[in-house]
Formats: sequence, structure tokens, C-alpha cells
Amino acid sequence: MATLSLQALTKRYDNGVPAVNAVSLDAADGEFIVIVGPSGCGKSTLLRLVAGLETVSGGRVVIDGAVVNDREPGNRDIAMVFQNYALYPHMTVAGNMAYGLRNRRVPKPEIAAKVRRAAEILELTELLERRPAQLSGGQRQRVAMGRAIVREPKVFLFDEPLSNLDAKLRVSMRVEIKRLQRRLRTTAVYVTHDQVEAMTLADRLVVMNRGVAEQIGPPLALYERPATVFVAGFIGSPAMNLLPAEWDGRFARVSPHLALALPGLGAPPGPLTLGIRPEHLGLEGGAAAAVELVEPLGADTLVHVRLADGPLLVARAAAAPAPDAPLALEMPLARLHLFDAAGNRIPWEAPSAALEARPCRPVA
Ligand SMILES: Nc1ncnc2c1ncn2[C@@H]1O[C@H](COP(=O)(O)OP(=O)(O)O)[C@@H](O)[C@H]1O
Ligand SMILES: [Mg+2]
Repeated sequence: MATLSLQALTKRYDNGVPAVNAVSLDAADGEFIVIVGPSGCGKSTLLRLVAGLETVSGGRVVIDGAVVNDREPGNRDIAMVFQNYALYPHMTVAGNMAYGLRNRRVPKPEIAAKVRRAAEILELTELLERRPAQLSGGQRQRVAMGRAIVREPKVFLFDEPLSNLDAKLRVSMRVEIKRLQRRLRTTAVYVTHDQVEAMTLADRLVVMNRGVAEQIGPPLALYERPATVFVAGFIGSPAMNLLPAEWDGRFARVSPHLALALPGLGAPPGPLTLGIRPEHLGLEGGAAAAVELVEPLGADTLVHVRLADGPLLVARAAAAPAPDAPLALEMPLARLHLFDAAGNRIPWEAPSAALEARPCRPVA
């Protein structure tokens, strides 16, 4: 049981560029925090700072109210599960799980009890006498987690633990990790570049970009109100449609043939970005568009459409549009996301009168 607080945590490697730049975060006791972002954005570095495997360049790591910046990794009461979870090939599952405890000279009966309990939680009881070579990839990954669990740490750190597994196994392990977390209620920080994994596992999500925490919040809050263009484009699959536009104070012009009236928007004239999720694009009654590609997914269909002299967009539809039928894109004002030239969200609520009149159609 523990809280974890990161306070303006910063890391500069020798080249001077901050790999982690003033990241602040307060994880509540038992909270599952997921850090997500593209490769190289600083996720592993952040985790290694918390674990004590890297020295901090600035800021503090606080566990249960105590600053641990100067504590050795072994004295931080943390357990880490990596992507490359090397098990000892000559040891049994039980031996692998017990190894860290034996090193700490924990009494034998206590080790045995802890290994037994962790094995039960992870459904490894039947496999305790096997060696790693006799296990499947998923079972091996569970042993690696068992090694972390037996230590009963205050905080779990996971660095892309599933990214070496095949897609199917990844999904089932994801469910197992979620179940495990519900059971153990140990504070955890989980790093991944996979946004589906991030959305499904997180109590709260941290989206990182170039060392900076762009936004922190519950997954659906980030999905519904991304604070930046980066978060808007990163969370969601297929990604949100992001259209560069020129705002003149009345209309946002997307292409020579398409301008959207945005009543009540007080932003100064200039470039902005319009965002709309694929599931919010309508395919009836709006601006003329041409279908470029239809991807039936079974449950729904992705329709790639191009506006005349304009950008390509993706719509998620219940069914494929009839071939050769004229298509017309509709962008409901209430579903639009607006971002300024710097990429920050512009707060804007479409006036209800405008919504009721359904002027949600592009104006030529
Ligand atoms: N030991 C190191 N020395 C110098 N630069 C590093 C080191 N480790 C990582 N970096 C750099 O720091 C940045 C963040 O890396 P990392 O934390 O591994 O990102 P991620 O885990 O999100 O892929 C990258 O630009 C990477 O090249
Ligand atoms: Mg990494």
C-alpha cells in the first residue's frame, strides 16, 4: 500500500536534451497509472528514474511521503517487470520466483508460503516444478510477474511487459494483468506504446510526447476532451481526423469548396486545426465527397472519403455506402474539436440554437 508522487521529474542524458521534462504526477494508493507515448518519448527513462536505475537531473520521486531520490533501487520497495524478462533457465518456476527472496535471506518457510500464494493468484501452481523451456510465452511472462509479486512491493513498475508476445496472447495477458491489479490493489505504473492496452488498463493515463506529460486523466476523459492535437491524434484507432483550416472570424475554411460556420467562436483569425472522430462523421447530407476506400471490419466499416480538392477523412459507419450513390459528409458541430496553431485545445461549445437548426453541414 503506497502513494507515489513525481514532482517536476527531469532527466538529461549527456547530450543535454531532456528525455524526461518536468513530469509531475500523484498516484493514489492502489491506482493503476499507464504511461503511453511513441517510441523515444521518455517512458522507460521515467520508469527507471522511479526505480532508481537512473539518477535524476531535477525534481523528486516520493514514495509514501518519503523522498527516495538518493535511495538505492533495492531500498525503494519497488518491483519492476520488463519486456525482456530473463528467467533463469536452469531453475524451476518456483526457484525463479523465490530467487530474489532467497537473496534477501528471507526465511525458507516464508518464501515457500509467498511463492505458493503468488502461484495461486497467477494460476501457476501446477507448473511450479517446470523449467522455463517447458513453458509457453504467456506462462513465462506470468512467472516474471510472480517474481515481482512475491516481493510484495509498494509499487509495481511495468515496462512494456507484453510487447514481445503475439497479438492474441497480448490480449489475454492484458485481461490477466487487469484482474491481478483488481486483486492485489498495488499502486502501479505501466508503460506501453500501445494505445489500446493503455485505454483498457489505466485508471489514469499519462500521454507523453518528447519527454513532456501532455495530458493526464481517465482514459475516456482524454478520448473525449484531448488537451492537445498530439493527444487527439494519438488516442483512438483509427485516429481522429485532423484538418488544417483557416479561421476568418466566421468560417473555418478547410478547402476551396468547404468552409464551416463556427458560431460563437471568439478565437482570433488565423490557422487552426479541426478534429473529428471517425465515428462522428456522417455520410448523408453535407459536403460532396468521394469514397476512396472501404474497409469492412465485420462489426462496422471504415469508409475513407476525400472532400473535393480537400483532405482525406475516415468515417466509421454501420455499413458500406451504396456504390455510386452521391456521398455527402456531415460534421456535427457538437462533435468538433478545435486546436490553435500551437496545438492546444480551444474551448468552444457550439451554441445550442446552432445545433438545433442542424447547420452542421459544411458551407460552400
Ligand atoms: N542511456 C542513455 N543515454 C543517452 N540517451 C538516452 C539513454 N537512454 C535513452 N536515451 C534517449 O532518451 C530518449 C527517451 O528514451 P526512452 O526513455 O528509452 O524512450 P521510450 O521508452 O519512450 O521509447 C530517447 O531520445 C533516447 O534516445
Ligand atoms: Mg522504452
